Amino acid sequence: MAKRVLVLNGPNLNLLGIREPGIYGSKTLKDIEALCRESASELGLTVDFRQSNHEGELVTWIQDARATADAILINPAAYSHTSLAIADALKAVGLPVAEVHLSNIHQREPFRHHSFVSAVAVGVLCGFGALGYKLALQALAEKL
Ligand code: DQA
Repeated sequence: MAKRVLVLNGPNLNLLGIREPGIYGSKTLKDIEALCRESASELGLTVDFRQSNHEGELVTWIQDARATADAILINPAAYSHTSLAIADALKAVGLPVAEVHLSNIHQREPFRHHSFVSAVAVGVLCGFGALGYKLALQALAEKL
């Protein structure tokens, strides 16, 4: 059976395309979803692609992934830098996690340099724009 990857996107990523394109690029979240679906089918994976502006909703989806996914790809957006709840949920679920950021968070403001999620991720990709999602799916496919 095809391995299932839950792809989660945090707050404000629904605005991609119009949100600070100099930092995040011109691709919309729909474009990134299409890229993920295309990559997943090449890799023999299925993807469940979601976005939420709500921390609790993301935590619930992560908890539910115990029964519905084999791995999680997450761009936690601003919650990367603030949310112990998301990091704890990822740790509790115990699935392999790939963390993705469109921008290189280490080249930006100091408050973006730390991510609570990184400690529970198998690996982190940042700075490659939408390509990071594709690379992370490849890495998870290898891992699975
Ligand atoms: C982001 C980086 C975060 O610092 C920021 O809050 C985001 C997007 C990225 O994809 O580059 O919303 O995760």
